[in-house]
Amino acid sequence: MNKYKIAVLPGDGIGPEIMREAIKVLKIVEQRNDVSFELQESPFGASAYFEHGNPFPESTKAICAEADATLKGPVGLSYDETEKIPVDLRPERGAILPLRKWLNTYANFRPVSLPKGLAHFSPLKPEIIGDGIDILMIRELVGGLYFGSKEVGVNDKGLRYVKESLEYDEEQIARIIRVAFKQCMTRKKVLHNIHKNNVLKSSVLWNEIVGEVAKDFPEVEVIHILVDAAATYLCLNPGQFDVMVMENMFGDILSDQAGGILGSLGLMPSACIGDESAYYEPSHGSAPDIGGKNIANPYSMIGSVAMMLELSFNMPDESRNIWKAMQSVFIQGYSTPDLSKQGSGVNMIATDEFGDRVVDELKKLG
Ligand code: IPM
Ligand code: MG
Repeated sequence: MNKYKIAVLPGDGIGPEIMREAIKVLKIVEQRNDVSFELQESPFGASAYFEHGNPFPESTKAICAEADATLKGPVGLSYDETEKIPVDLRPERGAILPLRKWLNTYANFRPVSLPKGLAHFSPLKPEIIGDGIDILMIRELVGGLYFGSKEVGVNDKGLRYVKESLEYDEEQIARIIRVAFKQCMTRKKVLHNIHKNNVLKSSVLWNEIVGEVAKDFPEVEVIHILVDAAATYLCLNPGQFDVMVMENMFGDILSDQAGGILGSLGLMPSACIGDESAYYEPSHGSAPDIGGKNIANPYSMIGSVAMMLELSFNMPDESRNIWKAMQSVFIQGYSTPDLSKQGSGVNMIATDEFGDRVVDELKKLG
C-alpha cells in the first residue's frame, strides 16, 4: 500500500469550507484504492497570524517539511482585518511567498480549462469558445519581480522613491522552460513563449534560453508572443494556445485574465511544483465577504486535489475521474451562488451539496 502524508492548510475566508469538500473527495479515492492519506491540518494565513502571531508558524513548516505534498486553501482577510497585521506579516508576504521560496516550487501549473458543456460560464461568445478552452499556463513562481531586491527611500531631490528588480539567472530560466517543453510533449507540441523583449532585458535573456532548451525538443514548435498581445489573444482566440510559459509577474496577471475568460477564478486550481516538493492551491483569493456562508464553489480546491493525485501520487485515472465528476455536476445544471446568478436557469446549491454531488458522481466512475 502507498502511504502519503498530506499537510492540509485550510487558510482563511472560504478556505476551510472548500477544503472540507476537497477532503471528502480524497476520502473516496482512499477508500477504493490501495493508498492511504495521512492528513495533518495546520494553521496558515491571516487567521494563523491572529492565533499564533505568525501567518506561517514553525509548527506548520515542520508539518509541510514532513509531508509528501501540501494542500493549501486560499488566504487573506478583509481589508480592515488585514490593516491590523504588520505589513511584512500579511499573508501574501508573510506566508505564501515564503512557502513558495522555501519549498522551491518554481513551476506553477495553471490549467485553463472549460469543456464545451460548461461554455455558458464564459463571458466570451460561443463562436470564440468553439470546442471549449484547454490551455496550460506555466508560470515561473520563485523569481522575477516578486523576489528581486527592493529599495524604498528618499532620493537626492527629497522625493520618496521605490526600486524593485526583476531578477533571473540562466538556471532559473532554463528549468522552468524545460518543464514547459516536457508538458508540450504530452500535449499538442506547441509552446507559446510569453515575453516582452522589445522593452525588458530579462525577456531578452529568457528568449535566448528558450532557443537553447528548444534544441532538446525539436518536435515542439515555439511561438514567441509579446505579453500584451497574448492578453488580447486570450480574449479574441483562446483556442490558439495550448501550453504557455512565462515569468512570475506575467503569469500572475495572465492567469487571472484566464480565470476571467472561463467566467470565474473559482474555476482555477493550480499546482506548484519543485524538484523535491509540491503544493496545491486554488489560484484565487479567500473571498472573505462570503466566507462561512456555504455558497462558494469548491471546484478549484477539489481540482487542486485532482492535480495532486496526478502530479504527486501518480494516480492519473482518479485525477481524471474527479475532473469528470465535477463537470457532470455542472452539466446536470447545478451551480453555486458565487458562480451563477439567481434566475440563470441553474439549480442553485450550497458548497457542501456541491461536494456531496461530486462525491456521488465520483462513486459512479472508476
Ligand atoms: C496568485 C496570487 C498570489 C500571487 C498572491 C496572493 C501573492 O495572486 O497565486 O496568483 O501574486 O502570486
Ligand atoms: Mg494572482
